[in-house]
Amino acid sequence: MNLSQSTILVTGAAGVGVGFGVCQALEEVGARIIINDIDQNKIDKAVDQFTNAIGFKADLRQKEEVEKMFDQIATKVGVIDGLVNNAGVGLTKAVHEITEEEYDSLYDVNMKGVWRVTKYFVQQLLDNKRTGNIVNVSSVHAFASQPNYSTYASSKNAVEGFTRALAYELGQHNIRCNAIAPGMVHAEQNLDLIKQWATDPQQWVEDFIQDQQVLHKLIEPIDCGRAAAFLLSENSRAITGQTIYVDAGTTSMLFNKAFVTKK
Ligand SMILES: NC(=O)c1ccc[n+]([C@@H]2O[C@H](COP(=O)([O-])OP(=O)(O)OC[C@H]3O[C@@H](n4cnc5c(N)ncnc54)[C@H](O)[C@@H]3O)[C@@H](O)[C@H]2O)c1
Repeated sequence: MNLSQSTILVTGAAGVGVGFGVCQALEEVGARIIINDIDQNKIDKAVDQFTNAIGFKADLRQKEEVEKMFDQIATKVGVIDGLVNNAGVGLTKAVHEITEEEYDSLYDVNMKGVWRVTKYFVQQLLDNKRTGNIVNVSSVHAFASQPNYSTYASSKNAVEGFTRALAYELGQHNIRCNAIAPGMVHAEQNLDLIKQWATDPQQWVEDFIQDQQVLHKLIEPIDCGRAAAFLLSENSRAITGQTIYVDAGTTSMLFNKAFVTKK
């Protein structure tokens, strides 16, 4: 794969998880990377890790900030060829305990943020008569979930529905739209989350890999990144409207291994 002629915007790319992995993979294939995030310090540190990266701060919940970011990108970088809608937030809470504010705040990033950035991205492609590529970041929770995840899961289903419908809408302009759906990615923030229900998070992760994944290996951020890079490249030129599950087989299992081997 070679993306040396492409400039790709990755939202929420100054984190330690999937967005970072996407940037690592894009660096491997020579792309020019535009790192967006909400936090300028994190952006500065992230930009320093890559040879061909530039950062732009914008809170994707704010229309004015996203508009300003696209104006700045147009002036400083030019037309963007690819977009990875990575920025997302989680919510682990029972449905009856979630407040109106928490619900709106989740959807503001996970769905409205994806729509908003996509809107400006597509506009600049059409204005410049260019083709392009979108990769949205979904989750295994769009397929199968667990208690206290219904709102998060619904936001990722929205992203997958958006991906399929948008692929049809934008096909006439030769703009493709696909998604990746990561499983449990090996990143520090997940260990903090797992502390909420497991006394030994490291052991919980070990057990998860053995019982809940077909492949017994950690999913690293770069595994998600390489799937995104494939979808952004010409190697996937006939693929649109699809979601690739980067989950080491979690969503292929009808029964977990511990249950199957139970006597
Ligand atoms: N980590 C996982 O195991 C996992 C699994 C499935 C799906 N995902 C999805 O992957 C994506 C990335 O999540 P991650 O957990 O890997 O974290 P990450 O390390 O990629 O961090 C997410 C980033 O988004 C940024 N962000 C949050 N709100 C923002 C806003 N309003 N505007 C701009 N930036 C904002 C954060 O500052 C953070 O840097 C999310 O969409 C998440 O739902 C993650």
